[in-house]
Amino acid sequence: MSIPIWGLLRLFIVLKVIQILIIYFTPGQFDTSSQLIISQLESPFPKVVTTILDKLIVWDSVYFNDMFINPAKYENQLVFCPGWIAFIKLFPVENYYSLQLLSIAISNICHFASAILLYAITRGMYDGKISELSSAFIILSPTAGVFLTTNYSENISNFLTLLCFYLYFISVNFQDYSKTSNKSIAHPVTYILSGVIASMGFTVRANGLLLGIIYLIDLYHFVIDQNMNEIILTLTTGSTLFITFASTNIYHYIKFCPARGEWCNSYFPSLFKYAQGRYWNVGLFKYWTPNNIPNFLIVAPAIYINIYSTWYIYKNEVPKNKKILVLVIIHAIILFSGIFFWNAQILNRVTSYSPLVYWTISLHFVDHNKRKWAEYVAGFGILWNVIQTTLFAGFLPPA
Ligand SMILES: *[C@@H]1O[C@H](CO)[C@@H](O)[C@H](O)[C@H]1NC(C)=O
Repeated sequence: MSIPIWGLLRLFIVLKVIQILIIYFTPGQFDTSSQLIISQLESPFPKVVTTILDKLIVWDSVYFNDMFINPAKYENQLVFCPGWIAFIKLFPVENYYSLQLLSIAISNICHFASAILLYAITRGMYDGKISELSSAFIILSPTAGVFLTTNYSENISNFLTLLCFYLYFISVNFQDYSKTSNKSIAHPVTYILSGVIASMGFTVRANGLLLGIIYLIDLYHFVIDQNMNEIILTLTTGSTLFITFASTNIYHYIKFCPARGEWCNSYFPSLFKYAQGRYWNVGLFKYWTPNNIPNFLIVAPAIYINIYSTWYIYKNEVPKNKKILVLVIIHAIILFSGIFFWNAQILNRVTSYSPLVYWTISLHFVDHNKRKWAEYVAGFGILWNVIQTTLFAGFLPPA
């Protein structure tokens, strides 16, 4: 497999430079609350760099930057991507701006690494052209835009998710016709590693727990096959994710309970569940109120592109390639939860990990009859990147 690294890197750099220029030249900020933070900072960088960094101290980045420096003070801080924060804290850097720049650099490296991983995953199923196009589209990222350039945890979450898929796909033989399920584990160590990576992914983004579905489906298949070795391997791998999930909850419990009351007293005490409802208003139809109509409009294109892609892959590609069914299931759950339970507009970014969208755009792009659709999506993606980057640098929604 020869990966067109330089071509992709060139595209990556061009797009990032355009975004950085937009950020730099966006005049003023609508919300001036971060001026309070900025006025107390000392920058070790030239004025140009500091100006760009200042404009990126908005929305969730305010929060991340604070967490890179200060220990967690409130319970809601603990459920917000602790893995990403702990990772940045590993570096012996103390200055606010230096940490911000470092986290932005790592985030962008993860973005590019995701594009390379997507190439490798895609190449296992399609030709070089489709693979290269898919990588190009994850670099453009039609709906997530600047979120994949600033220091949000999106990029590291996407990277770990794609790495899990990659390791999983190369470790399992999906054409073992001696088994009823046609499936067997060809590389046990790589298989277990995919679960370890999924666990790391969970510490960065709680819905990484959904990757457990991979191992549940495997377990079901291997039980049918009555394949004892594979059952044990799958249980071991799946339980790394489950243990990570359980121990995070236990850690929260020990840290806050029983003094905290409220969520400590529920039957399954979970700070995750409580904090999402309490601080982020997560719950069935909770977000469906008239004042959120703008948020639904902002995410409408992403919802359309993602639902269409998930359906398209399910109809046309899953019959040829059973192994991608699990990606369809995971993505369908994310879309369903995003629309009905979560703050819907986050779908703009939390869907950016999924190969389904990038495959759909690429498959349409190489088909003369369907090319128009891909061109519209790409056109929208470029336009949205410009608009959204401008809004973000101006401290305006979407967040
Ligand atoms: C396994 O492969 C055979 C032959 O291609 C096919 O007929 C069968 O439906 C497959 N089984 C599963 C569970 O996918």
